[in-house]
Amino acid sequence: MPPAIARPPLDDAAAWQALSPLLKPYLPWSAGAMRPAGLVTVLNDVWFRMPTLVVELGSGTSTVVVARLLHELGTGRLLSIEHDDAWADRVQRQLDREGLVDVADVVRAPLRPHERSWHGAEWYDEAALATAIGVAGHPIDLLVVDGPPAWQPGKEHARYPALGSLVRWLAPGATVVLDDIERAGEQEVLARWQQEHGVIFDMHAASGVAVGSWPSA
Ligand SMILES: C[S@@+](CC[C@H](N)C(=O)[O-])C[C@H]1O[C@@H](n2cnc3c(N)ncnc32)[C@H](O)[C@@H]1O
Repeated sequence: MPPAIARPPLDDAAAWQALSPLLKPYLPWSAGAMRPAGLVTVLNDVWFRMPTLVVELGSGTSTVVVARLLHELGTGRLLSIEHDDAWADRVQRQLDREGLVDVADVVRAPLRPHERSWHGAEWYDEAALATAIGVAGHPIDLLVVDGPPAWQPGKEHARYPALGSLVRWLAPGATVVLDDIERAGEQEVLARWQQEHGVIFDMHAASGVAVGSWPSA
């Protein structure tokens, strides 16, 4: 199935309006969260595609908002991979409070040295990823790469292992979204992904995300 992203992408001001039905109850927004326009890009893909399995790397406000939409649509499941136990507790508590555990799980996966690392940045524990995605029992229809944190010096390429690590679970035609593409590290990661996996990404500069479609065959 071709990716069904509404185009052209919204700017952040318009995205807040589009998000408004999904913003209650209150959620804490910070600079660490996806920008509204980037999150709308993800939600549009969920709405058009009606995915069976969404995997998000790096949990937070986006986790709860995507779970709210899945719950409303009555289809699909979100696995949000999180390395920080205390943060995972907070996000899981909000999912519990809102009765969203039928559609979303926070998967705890500590960061470890990894054979696919670029410049030695750590990656999520592979056994934790394999267990969670294996139990889900369905290939990934939508992958959102917003973790591990990659803003610190020396960690700029921390998200590079995402495609190599998850390739065996990606559905043909799956949508892949990378956040924070205004940063040089993410642009270098995208260049390697395009070269190594043949995925062409659309750069949504106004939303801070790149959107690619995993090859169908
Ligand atoms: C880029 S953030 C992920 C943000 C998330 N996808 C969202 O849009 O809300 C990457 C990591 O930062 C940490 N994090 C995110 N929001 C945070 C917050 N408000 N306070 C502390 N840590 C946070 C979590 O460990 C998360 O995995």
